[in-house]
Amino acid sequence: MTYLITGANRGIGLALTKEALKRGNKVIAATRKPKEENLIKLKNSGADLVIMELDVSDYDSIIRFSSELKYDVDILINNAGVLYRDRFPELVYENFISSFKVNTLGALFLTQELYKNKKLRQGGKIINIDSILGSISNASGTTSYSYSVSKAALNMVTKLLSSFFLREQIIVFSVHPGWVKTDMGGKEAPIEPEDSAKGIIDLSEKVSETGKFYDFTGRELEW
Ligand SMILES: NC(=O)c1ccc[n+]([C@@H]2O[C@H](COP(=O)([O-])OP(=O)(O)OC[C@H]3O[C@@H](n4cnc5c(N)ncnc54)[C@H](OP(=O)(O)O)[C@@H]3O)[C@@H](O)[C@H]2O)c1
Repeated sequence: MTYLITGANRGIGLALTKEALKRGNKVIAATRKPKEENLIKLKNSGADLVIMELDVSDYDSIIRFSSELKYDVDILINNAGVLYRDRFPELVYENFISSFKVNTLGALFLTQELYKNKKLRQGGKIINIDSILGSISNASGTTSYSYSVSKAALNMVTKLLSSFFLREQIIVFSVHPGWVKTDMGGKEAPIEPEDSAKGIIDLSEKVSETGKFYDFTGRELEW
């Protein structure tokens, strides 16, 4: 299988890349930093890894990436994300613009360009790495309005694309990776990136129903 993983240079994206490679897959690691040591080391260890430059907040970069990509993709994991800590009534307008560009539009427009370039294989999967903070049903408060609002919108992207891709038999779902020890999740997070990644790659192999929202253990979540 060929995986395409965005934000693959660190955190959950890097752990997903390693786990997918460990299971014998090819991985296209999309990153703003193709010279990053983490990925170069992996590549030099003989892994079936292709490193490509992609800034998901930049539409031109998405177009360039999608047209230059030489492989068909079985599993697309829209993982790249940003989080700014902001609460009402001290919200920062620019945080919302940036969060939407990365967390919502990055996933949506990358999927669109890959589809238009015929790079998404029939019978494949599109996995949007979302967050429980994007669940409207579970929202009582949040550490970040811009994050929660952009991830709730990403859940809508999942739902809409799941209907569109029925014809192609491409399964689309959202995954909450848990609270994970990364730059974003912080040191106090209880889950290691490797454990979250194992769960998500398991889901990429097992999920057979489209248009759902799961956590990394496979438990279904409410939108
Ligand atoms: N950690 C958690 O507890 C947690 C919980 C729920 C959901 N999530 C979600 O899980 C995903 C991964 O999070 P993480 O914890 O691994 O975060 P992280 O350690 O902060 O890593 C974020 C990744 O996204 C990339 N990225 C950011 N902006 C980008 C852009 N414009 N174009 C391309 N790549 C970009 C970063 O690349 P650079 O190095 O270039 O910045 C980095 O690889 C995110 O979608 C996040 O919202 C995380």
